Amino acid sequence: MNNEKFITFIEFTGFIALKKSGNSKSSIYSLNAFCCLLYALCFLLFAMPSEAKVTGACSDCHTMHNSQRGQAMARDYSSTDAGLVEDASPNPALLISSCIGCHFNSGTTTITANNTPVVLNAHDPGSSALAGGNFYYSSAGPGGAYDKGHNVKNISPQESSPMDAPPGFKAGVELPNGGTGPASWASQLTCAGTYGCHGNRGIADEVKSIFGAHHQNVDIDSSSDADKVYNSYRFLYGIKGAEDIDWEKTVSGIDHNGYQGDSLYGSMNTISYLCSECHGNYHANTNLGGSGSVGDGTPWLRHPADFAFNGVRGNNYAGSEYASYTTYNVIAPVAESSPTTSDSVVNSGSIVMCLSCHRAHASPYFKMLRWDYKAGSLGTALSGCMVCHTSKN
Ligand code: HEC
Ligand code: HEC
Ligand code: HEC
Ligand code: HEC
Ligand code: HEC
Repeated sequence: MNNEKFITFIEFTGFIALKKSGNSKSSIYSLNAFCCLLYALCFLLFAMPSEAKVTGACSDCHTMHNSQRGQAMARDYSSTDAGLVEDASPNPALLISSCIGCHFNSGTTTITANNTPVVLNAHDPGSSALAGGNFYYSSAGPGGAYDKGHNVKNISPQESSPMDAPPGFKAGVELPNGGTGPASWASQLTCAGTYGCHGNRGIADEVKSIFGAHHQNVDIDSSSDADKVYNSYRFLYGIKGAEDIDWEKTVSGIDHNGYQGDSLYGSMNTISYLCSECHGNYHANTNLGGSGSVGDGTPWLRHPADFAFNGVRGNNYAGSEYASYTTYNVIAPVAESSPTTSDSVVNSGSIVMCLSCHRAHASPYFKMLRWDYKAGSLGTALSGCMVCHTSKN
């Protein structure tokens, strides 16, 4: 129910309650009942997710004819110029830019006009980088390297075989909300669409796959159904989670994204399932690599993801090294079955996930890890591992 309908409804119920109250003894009951109703409805209203849909002048983001005094209005990102250039061809949905052009900044700023989250900077954003990391590290520019992140079309050239396809790729995997992933990997990675991560992956075209989401976006918590692109975590169709409103520009153990996990790799709505829609063999879900590829308990064949601490060796969480990881640590965060943006407690129900070790876009480190696993110093190399494996130092 939107606010307008809600107010009309309140007015109507108030009218009925007052009309009925008359002068009898029942008036006090009616009034009481009305107050209870009002209270319950207010509770519902405040429990609804807040809106994060785009605001601002239409012309900030759209151009009607892609022409003003005969000059093209659209600007698009050019990897050779590492910046925006005039774009004579019009964009779908009359947009002034592609996904990358809007989500790019020529400096190090990571939240720009119209509250746009930036995922590609022309200069090293350092600690300003948002939660997903920053494609600066895998761009064609001087700061970029192929092995530090996803190589997205128009940000960097496609890598040569076998890294032109997702490592661990599994054909035709089941997607959340229905549909199947591609039967073979036939394209460079894109932001959205079948060969991208965002939007409905059942739809090939990038803009079509996300159509309508920007104007309906809500800041979701884990109660969101994730049955539309706009109410899914970060437009990742079918994935649940709790969205930090500044995408972790400021981040701490009590101010962070809440990642959806599953204690025994069964659900399709987790962030690890999203990664494994492409890297299928790294996830034990039966739709994906399954336990044949990952294992189903210690000793594991591949590092577990979507696996809670309470399932560790001998089901002895209390006696395990993981019991010493008690406070949410943004270096190696955990997922939860009902995550929030302020969970600070790590306990037996906390879940290891792909993003415990990786960033989603790119990072300053080898294999888009959250810390420098390739560092010369063992302390640095293991710094993230030891957040969980507390006795392995
Ligand atoms: C801050 C950027 C931004 C502003 C401001 C903006 N839009 Fe959009 N709009 C988008 C993006 C991005 C898309 C395409 C992706 C999508 O649909 O999520 C879009 C898609 C649309 C669509 C097609 C999808 C839908 O939701 O129906 C319409 C119509 C639209 N915009 C109209 C408007 C109008 C009218 C205004 C001004 C009142 C406006 N937009 C302002 C960014 C913006
Ligand atoms: C015209 C500029 C524009 C274009 C084009 C555009 N975006 Fe956005 N995008 C925005 C703005 C502004 C926001 C912030 C909306 C808000 O306040 O939550 C946003 C937010 C997002 C978010 C974060 C949503 C969340 O829940 O936090 C994602 C993901 C995203 N865009 C992906 C895309 C993809 C993929 C495309 C291309 C298909 C695209 N955008 C095209 C302007 C744009
Ligand atoms: C839509 C498909 C898709 C999804 C979803 C996806 N990836 Fe990838 N990933 C790829 C492709 C394609 C490559 C190989 C080419 C490249 O590096 O971009 C790759 C490469 C990688 C690499 C190696 C990078 C390198 O440069 O050596 C890592 C690590 C990785 N992905 C992790 C993840 C994680 C973590 C997630 C979830 C947040 C994820 N991927 C989601 C397609 C995907
Ligand atoms: C977010 C927590 C977390 C992080 C970070 C983490 N691990 Fe793990 N790891 C686990 C859990 C939980 C298991 C499963 C243990 C079990 O089943 O007894 C595990 C299992 C393993 C195993 C297999 C053990 C077995 O019993 O088969 C190895 C090896 C391992 N991790 C190494 C690493 C390394 C190396 C790193 C750093 C690159 C790392 N882990 C980071 C939580 C984590
Ligand atoms: C415990 C930490 C940890 C977790 C959890 C983890 N990874 Fe990794 N991942 C690594 C490390 C470290 C590497 C570097 C290569 C190596 O040491 O095996 C890596 C490498 C990769 C690669 C590159 C492989 C290649 O051939 O270059 C991909 C893709 C990848 N991970 C995806 C995932 C996905 C998807 C998940 C979740 C299902 C995941 N990772 C969970 C630590 C982790």
